Amino acid sequence: MGKCPDCGTWDALEEYRAPREPDKQSSIAGVWVEPNVGSQGDSLSAPVALPLPEIEAADVERMPTGIGELDRVLGGGFVPASVILLGGDPGIGKSTLMLQAAAALATSGGPVLYVTSEESAFQTRLRAERLFPGENKSAKHSPDSESLKNLHVLADSNLARIVEQARRVRPKLLVIDSVQMVYKPDLDAAPGSVTQLRRCCTELVYLSKVSGMAVVLVGHVTKDGQLAGPKLLEHLVDVVLAFDGDRHHAHRVVRAMKNRFGTTLEVGLFEMSGGGLREILDPAGAVDPKEAGRAGAVICSAMHGSRCLLVEIQALTAPGILGVAKRKTSGLDASRVAMLIAVLEKHGGLRLADQDIFASVLGGLKVIEPAADLAICLAIAGAHMRKALPAGTIVAGEVGLDGRIRCAPQMAVRLAEATRRGFSTITAEFPDAPKPGKRLSIVADIQNAMQILE
Ligand code: TYD
Ligand code: MG
Repeated sequence: MGKCPDCGTWDALEEYRAPREPDKQSSIAGVWVEPNVGSQGDSLSAPVALPLPEIEAADVERMPTGIGELDRVLGGGFVPASVILLGGDPGIGKSTLMLQAAAALATSGGPVLYVTSEESAFQTRLRAERLFPGENKSAKHSPDSESLKNLHVLADSNLARIVEQARRVRPKLLVIDSVQMVYKPDLDAAPGSVTQLRRCCTELVYLSKVSGMAVVLVGHVTKDGQLAGPKLLEHLVDVVLAFDGDRHHAHRVVRAMKNRFGTTLEVGLFEMSGGGLREILDPAGAVDPKEAGRAGAVICSAMHGSRCLLVEIQALTAPGILGVAKRKTSGLDASRVAMLIAVLEKHGGLRLADQDIFASVLGGLKVIEPAADLAICLAIAGAHMRKALPAGTIVAGEVGLDGRIRCAPQMAVRLAEATRRGFSTITAEFPDAPKPGKRLSIVADIQNAMQILE
């Protein structure tokens, strides 16, 4: 171009060469590899294509933390030389979870390096004192001061110095809390910027591969719910964990969005307490089959991986005053609820157009599976008609646009859990159903189901 497209000046363009990307050996993580090995390594250890059966199948060894709920989501524990990204809202408890996991692993496994780039080392010490009080040695997973010597804490955000310390400590697990604060000084970009984030993450992934340690990157979620950066990093890491819950409730859920070493169906349930995160082993403890039914409250069985949780869905309808009726949900998918309201209008014979409708899941949990449809419908219909379900009823079933109810997946598990807890179940037709009777009623469509409200 003869003319600068920016300022319009003629003949002002000059040739510019972008500085060459430093190659792997000169990157920070490359320090890990002994220098003289690296220089000739390329030609010696260049990978060769092999027939599949000839590839050595090394068993993936795991490092369980002993925190059952976390291990379940990870598929049995941390895998050496893997990178895990843990995302969540600020204040949800990511640092608490990782400090507990780090301490547990330091007790059972080996050295752990916890890098805190947001808090000071002193703050981490204070938190640890709260999580593992000295006198509480008998409690489960409570590490004593001897094993906490294996837990090294570093307050730094300079990647070069972090790698240097990791080299010294040789940890089994390296936690970076948070990755958004870490920077590489020779890059001309601010910490937290896309360039820094991508580059630091790439180097940490490389570091984990050459050193064999598991690396956890803690990342914040932005206001609009995106994992900040993490969308950018997702393809680089082996496991993406999301930690969520309602900050005003005690329940916290950790789930895998991506896992190269296990299923993404499992969830881990925790409760935030004064002494850190506690595992919830029996999540249905809160619902009581003998409690009389209430209008607008329906218990639904929600599958989370292999586990069936009983959760209460509540709805409220009230005449709207001005203009467009309000529809608000919490813990439920708003557009799904809007669809179900339309089904109730069309096929259930309810007039809801002028009603404000609120629907929520009790306890700050999220229920997004379609199997909750019928429960949402019955909660809204019940709230509107001031009718309740008989005591001890659980509802499961997917509602279609035609008002018909379809069988929810894994019905056998749901039924077993309901029976175990002394509930009876209302559901759609399901193929290999045991005989309907005291414990099971089967409904075909939404009209049918609404007749059960008393
Ligand atoms: P934190 O782990 O700092 O969240 P994040 O790293 O995700 O930003 O913890 C957040 C909240 O947890 C904090 O506001 C206080 C609460 N908390 C407890 O209720 N009990 C505890 O034992 C600890 C350590 C924290
Ligand atoms: Mg934190």
